[in-house]
Amino acid sequence: MKRILVILTGGRPMGNTRQLAEAFCKGARDAGHEVKLISLMQYQVNGCLGCNACRFGKPCVQKDDFDQVAALVAQADLIAFASPLYFWTISARMKALIERFYSLAKEDADPPLGRYEAYPPKECVLLMTSADDYFWTFEQAVSYYRFALINYIGMHDRGMLLAGGCGATDGKPGIDKTGHLERAYDFGFRIE
Ligand SMILES: Cc1cc2nc3c(=O)[nH]c(=O)nc-3n(C[C@H](O)[C@H](O)[C@H](O)COP(=O)(O)O)c2cc1C
Repeated sequence: MKRILVILTGGRPMGNTRQLAEAFCKGARDAGHEVKLISLMQYQVNGCLGCNACRFGKPCVQKDDFDQVAALVAQADLIAFASPLYFWTISARMKALIERFYSLAKEDADPPLGRYEAYPPKECVLLMTSADDYFWTFEQAVSYYRFALINYIGMHDRGMLLAGGCGATDGKPGIDKTGHLERAYDFGFRIE
């Protein structure tokens, strides 16, 4: 049994991304995992200011909800990041949250090449929706996920579900007609 935290980082209230995240949650719960879903629409998490106070042992100067989210992240074994594709990449809220992980870094006496510090060991998955469905549609988002979360922060990738072709936001959410919700359920169910 894993403790899974699903972080919805954008999208409409009952839009494609929430539906995708909830289908993943249902699959993971049915497989016996403990699952919690939160939305960054309910938590205010600003981007990092780069003041480096946290690197001098001081609390973050920003008085927003990051500490609450960080406490939930600390309790989880696996973080599922759910985002709509906005201008060919992850949502601004997801980027802001990742920037704030800067304050979670600890000293690493022997870091691998290109990394300077250690982050709490976590597993992660990426869940995304988009209107388009070309082979390059998610390229920037996947690249950022790999560079920042996997290679730099050092999370262990447990997979991605890139749900293209869900329709644009000028119409009703169309994910229910794509087969992605079934895939998301299956993805959640197969988390080990
Ligand atoms: C600001 C904005 C930017 C978007 N940029 C893209 C894009 O670059 N490529 C794409 O395929 N869809 C894009 N979309 C469409 C959404 O990614 C897609 O409709 C998504 O499923 C919406 O998620 P939601 O239903 O959870 O709100 C964009 C939508 C918005 C509102």
